[in-house]
Amino acid sequence: MKILVVGGGGREHAIAWRLSQDSCQPTVFCAPGNAGTAAIAQNVPVAAEDVPALLAWAEAHRPDLTVVGPEIPLCLGITDTFNAAGLRVFGPVQAAARMEGSKLFAKEIMAAAGVPTAKALAFESAAAAEAALDDFNMPLVIKADGLAAGKGVVIAHTRLEAEAAIRSMLVEAAFGKAGAKILIEEFLEGEEASILALVDGERAVLLPPSQDHKRVFDNDQGPNTGGMGAYTPAPVVTDAMLPVIMDSVILPVVRELAKRGIVYKGVLYAGLMITAQGIKVLEFNARFGDPETEAVLPRIGGDLIPALQACIDGTLDSSLVKIKPEAAATVIMAAGGYPGKYAKGTVIHGLDAAADRPDCFVFHAGTALQDGEVVTAGGRVLAVTAIGPDLKTAVGRAYEAVAEISFEGSHYRHDIAHRAFGRKL
Ligand code: AMP
Ligand code: GLY
Repeated sequence: MKILVVGGGGREHAIAWRLSQDSCQPTVFCAPGNAGTAAIAQNVPVAAEDVPALLAWAEAHRPDLTVVGPEIPLCLGITDTFNAAGLRVFGPVQAAARMEGSKLFAKEIMAAAGVPTAKALAFESAAAAEAALDDFNMPLVIKADGLAAGKGVVIAHTRLEAEAAIRSMLVEAAFGKAGAKILIEEFLEGEEASILALVDGERAVLLPPSQDHKRVFDNDQGPNTGGMGAYTPAPVVTDAMLPVIMDSVILPVVRELAKRGIVYKGVLYAGLMITAQGIKVLEFNARFGDPETEAVLPRIGGDLIPALQACIDGTLDSSLVKIKPEAAATVIMAAGGYPGKYAKGTVIHGLDAAADRPDCFVFHAGTALQDGEVVTAGGRVLAVTAIGPDLKTAVGRAYEAVAEISFEGSHYRHDIAHRAFGRKL
């Protein structure tokens, strides 16, 4: 069996690794992949966003299955394009990927489906948006409608900050077309959690809850990043909440889309805020989360490919997904300066020693091979992961693996899973 994984980050390394563990022993290709995927799969030198070039490769090599990591190709319609060429894809069609590609569309679906979320109003004119600020308490949240690589969300604590964010999106077009429409949204207080659901158009299976760490520094200080680490299970999501998430978040969205003729197949990722008033949705993504996937996939036992195939075929069943009782933690090692400017091409040492540790997985996020050495090639460089019988052990093992690895300027958070450890039992 031939599988193409689209993308080149830590998520895609984790997906390629997990699929290669399946009993059918697939041949895995990764486009474009990284130095980590090169060790377990064949890298294909095509960018994840270049749908025509991916199609050309797939038509020539006929993978039995393509698994899409990032949102951009999904929003560009890679699934529709591949399907039209008779190629099977795990990932939603373009119309369904709008759940991530347009925050307005996601709000409209949530409103129609009765899914709990922050109150929000949409604007295309700066004057109208500024006039509406009086209707919101501070802080409030301003969001670009479209894809902005995680940067299109501003939490404004003062009217001045809110006006600046509105102007930067609607007047100065800081996010181009993605910010031509904005949402002003009520600020939700609580603890965040990520739920990844496998969806087959009608049914869903929830993967274990996880939590991301978005700020760059310990104690949730400093600017937002793509995610500095993750862990699972996330005890903020109790077992009693899982049926609520299924029945009041995931399934209502899938059904509302189906009513509109949009069949959602793939991963539906719900970013949740667990508030004093209950579970509310912050956002939906149309794909596996990064770095959540690096923590969650090592907890899936047995075979994963049959579950992904069942999503495509509309035959998903919870018996197809075997969750291990272990906990898992991922520590992101980032390049010096990230999330601001950072250097590339720095040699990384100690990768083998870390990967050889029992129960550890060193997923590469931004790496490349240069003259036979593994070097940094992105802001988030490595997603160092470990599993263990409990969260404390998993986190401890991940940090022991991190201690084996060094590269100039590297930095990472020292408090992954701190919210879980800080909870009263
Ligand atoms: P989003 O891309 O919509 O998930 O927003 C990115 C991050 O901004 C979230 O993970 C939250 O940390 C924060 N955020 C977004 N919306 C809200 C909200 N309504 N209230 C509080 N925080 C928010
Ligand atoms: N971890 C956040 C995301 O994947 O969007």
